[in-house]
Amino acid sequence: MYKSKIAGIGHYVPANVVTNNELAVLMDTSDEWIQERTGIQERRYGTKHEESTTSMAANAARIAIDRAGTTKDQIDFIVFATLSPDYFFPGCGVLLQRELGITNTEIGALDVRNQCSGFIYALSIADQFIKTGMYKNILVVGAEMHSMGLDYTTRGRNVTVIFGDGAGAVVLQRSENESGILTTKLHADGTHAEELAFINPGSHGGYHKNRDLYGYPDDKYGGIFLTETMVKEGYIFPNMNGQFVFKMAIQKFPEVIKEALADQGYTSEDIDLFIPHQANLRISQFVQKLLGLPDHKVYNNIQKYGNTTAASIPIALSEAWESGKVKEGDLICLAAFGSGFTWASAFIKW
Ligand code: UT7
Repeated sequence: MYKSKIAGIGHYVPANVVTNNELAVLMDTSDEWIQERTGIQERRYGTKHEESTTSMAANAARIAIDRAGTTKDQIDFIVFATLSPDYFFPGCGVLLQRELGITNTEIGALDVRNQCSGFIYALSIADQFIKTGMYKNILVVGAEMHSMGLDYTTRGRNVTVIFGDGAGAVVLQRSENESGILTTKLHADGTHAEELAFINPGSHGGYHKNRDLYGYPDDKYGGIFLTETMVKEGYIFPNMNGQFVFKMAIQKFPEVIKEALADQGYTSEDIDLFIPHQANLRISQFVQKLLGLPDHKVYNNIQKYGNTTAASIPIALSEAWESGKVKEGDLICLAAFGSGFTWASAFIKW
């Protein structure tokens, strides 16, 4: 069986910096509240109507492909993780293929919808395809343009202040030696799906709950994804039960890391670098403490970028690699928890 390794990595964040104080002009919040609860100082927003989830992903992907020493034409599969796709359908995988000018139709393109753990899910999928010998160079991407779909009023402040835009990408390549992806652990529990969700537009028609809230027309044949009531009442933004999600996160992060450590016969002392999904600095710090990791073994950048969901791990890994924090032979631990709920970890021998 083959192994897979990250042969190239890259990231892109838009130039437009949005500070906490700028958000405080739009809604009832403050720099102090945001920093104290989340650690976030600023985030980036893509340039409206000029950038998209796909265009940012393409910028990150070009760097990753170049650093892998490959060309776009050697990519044989694309796995794209996002919760803020350009279109409802088709997915961003094919849009990225087009954006990169990949005309080879032999390749496959797949979209992954696992929010905060999307990148690790995508990496795991790519790893399996390489292990079976089906593909050699897989482009794995996490990208988000959250800023196109946030509620910039006080009503949405608990969610809006957290999110930022950006993209990260890796080329996962077939490898003959022992390093590379050692293991990935994936989990899901849909019991609390609506506790962190972006519900409308959607085909649910109020099936799960809140049917009366949404103002569906009384029409047997013509269903509708988006109603005037949804727009008017603001049911078209992400919602989160923050405290509940926080409590689940600090439970599931350590669990899924310990599961992978046990599987590989390692202890937390063996970890050279821990890159948690950048959901909240307080969550990262809690997990760090629990694992007994010193500061230099943990990489956080939520202070600069906010929570970029599927993009947060590849952006952080790429930055850490660029700054020399990821060295050959290092044991890298990635972990994430988020909407679904889904959670996951990956161990990589660099
Ligand atoms: O990446 C996906 C996974 N996501 C997460 O892991 C996020 C997990 N949750 C969190 O990080 C935290 O719950 C938040 C940072 C989202 C919120 O922090 P919190 O300490 O849990 O605040 P809260 O939601 O309990 O709200 C406390 C108070 C409320 O006011 P009252 O009811 O006490 O008067 C909120 O209305 O803070 C208020 N509040 C705000 N105030 C100023 C909520 N958002 C804001 C805000 N600025 N942006």
